[in-house]
Amino acid sequence: MSVSEILNKRYSVRSFEQRPIEQSLLDEIFTNAQLAPSNCNVQPWQVCVVSGNTKQVLQDKFIGLLMGGAKPNPDFNWAPQYQGQHRERQFGSANALYSAIGVSREDKKGRHMAMLRNWQFFDAPHAAFFTMDKYLDIMGAVDLGIYAQTLSLVLAEHGISNCMQGALGQFPDPVREVLGLPEERGILFGMSFGYPKLDAPVNQTRTERIQLSDAVTFYG
Ligand SMILES: Cc1cc2nc3c(=O)[nH]c(=O)nc-3n(C[C@H](O)[C@H](O)[C@H](O)COP(=O)(O)O)c2cc1C
Repeated sequence: MSVSEILNKRYSVRSFEQRPIEQSLLDEIFTNAQLAPSNCNVQPWQVCVVSGNTKQVLQDKFIGLLMGGAKPNPDFNWAPQYQGQHRERQFGSANALYSAIGVSREDKKGRHMAMLRNWQFFDAPHAAFFTMDKYLDIMGAVDLGIYAQTLSLVLAEHGISNCMQGALGQFPDPVREVLGLPEERGILFGMSFGYPKLDAPVNQTRTERIQLSDAVTFYG
């Protein structure tokens, strides 16, 4: 598949087959993703891939925290609230998701349950946490974003889908604890991935893109 074909076919997947990916294929995919560019070739990403029991332990910790009413305490600045047209697009993506799964605007509990699915990794067999030294701040965040998209494309080449998740950066303490990471390591965001359950309602979610002329200006 060409990159253009992948881009045309790709969408965020939030329901997965219970079919783990062979370690040899994971090695190949993550080796390829290492070719992502980075500022001064610093390659700041420290990627933690969780599966099996480790993923389950993390899920249990996340859900325990959320059920106890814990508030997010991300390592990086996820605080700005979207404004204006950004807010409208945010609502658009949320509506696309909730209408695919039949949850109405008024159904607060339904929305909350759908939100919780993030910390259950959408039942994906694997998840990656994109981590980096905290001091890198926005410099590292740019590189990690580029890395994550590179990984997403390589995964897609192998028929593997994903959902990138800011949600996985909201409760960094259990991640550091379970994975034995030092305090100076920051958890930026994550991604659940695996083979897609194509017929799942949540995977019928589709989003739109704004017109080229609203996003790109060509100067002569
Ligand atoms: C940095 C980043 C963080 C995201 N965080 C979440 C998340 O926490 N939960 C979720 O369900 N989707 C998340 N998404 C997926 C977006 O909602 C999705 O990419 C967007 O609505 C466009 O839809 P598409 O990926 O299907 O084209 C995230 C995407 C990115 C790039």
